[in-house]
Amino acid sequence: MTWSTDDIGDLRGRTAVVTGPTVGGIGFHTALELARHGARVALAGRTPAKLDAAAEAITAQVPYAALESLVVDLSDLSSVRAAAEAAGALGPLHLLVNNAGIMATPFRRTVDGLESQMATNHFGPFLLTGLLLDQLVASGAGRVVTLSSQAHRLARSAPLGDPRARRRYSRWRVYGQTKLANLLFTFELDRRLRRAGLPVLSLAAHPGLAGTHLAVNGQLGGTEGRRAAILDAAMKAIAQSAAAGAWPGLMAATADLPGGTYVGPGGPGQASGRPRVVGTAPLARDEMAQRRLWETSEATVGLSWP
Ligand SMILES: NC(=O)c1ccc[n+]([C@@H]2O[C@H](COP(=O)([O-])OP(=O)(O)OC[C@H]3O[C@@H](n4cnc5c(N)ncnc54)[C@H](OP(=O)(O)O)[C@@H]3O)[C@@H](O)[C@H]2O)c1
Repeated sequence: MTWSTDDIGDLRGRTAVVTGPTVGGIGFHTALELARHGARVALAGRTPAKLDAAAEAITAQVPYAALESLVVDLSDLSSVRAAAEAAGALGPLHLLVNNAGIMATPFRRTVDGLESQMATNHFGPFLLTGLLLDQLVASGAGRVVTLSSQAHRLARSAPLGDPRARRRYSRWRVYGQTKLANLLFTFELDRRLRRAGLPVLSLAAHPGLAGTHLAVNGQLGGTEGRRAAILDAAMKAIAQSAAAGAWPGLMAATADLPGGTYVGPGGPGQASGRPRVVGTAPLARDEMAQRRLWETSEATVGLSWP
């Protein structure tokens, strides 16, 4: 089967939350396609002006788009709790796409005392998903799609130690560990949902290499200025488009697939191309690591679930 966005089908009557929908990124194209196919989409991001710009750009292409806005800084657990409370007004949720992320940023500790890549890419989404679970269950057919990366293969071990402990920081090793955490979380969530008999699926996807602002945000701290423009252009030259980068997540979100499925591009090295079901590094399948990360995450964010 060769999947394309024509396969998404009619999403009218469904509500989706997409984190990190900034124009130019994978989340933007994910939200755009979901809206184009009739879903009501809540754009969830930390910068209100960027949420407005994303809504404007989506509406320009999809005048009938039904969009909502949810302000959330995933690196701040109190912000995640506030956003989840605000999301209560959305009612039942059919889809949560945990897309927002940062890559290889300099060391920073968050207000919660966590390293910022782990906080943004794993602990914030873990808490958000847990707090939205009742609404996902309420739809009767919920789905959680979490964006990982081929970089999960860079991790030599799962991030299972005390997340507030001081240790030597390598920005790429930690990025790889956050993306491994995304997969460990996906598979453990899927198992727990099935064990609890809840009508929610948990899947993961990776975009291959897509020309977004991820590299420039991580290396230069933002998208402004000449150096950022040069790095952005270099990424676009070697990568597939951000729109194509959204395809694996969209397939995971809408195709008839079982929980625990991982979707990525089907081209050479899974860097680009039409999406298909792909495999993971063996570490991601370590059930002990999945369970221990879950327990550490519950203790870290102060929420036991499902
Ligand atoms: N691009 C690739 O080749 C590639 C490859 C593998 C995996 N991925 C994964 O794909 C996902 C999307 O990345 P992208 O390439 O589209 O990058 P991007 O263009 O940099 O977009 C990242 C999005 O995440 C948001 N974000 C960052 N920190 C946040 C926080 N603390 N709270 C809430 N939102 C936050 C950003 O918001 P602001 O604009 O406000 O900063 C932006 O909307 C990430 O999970 C990434 O790891 C990407």
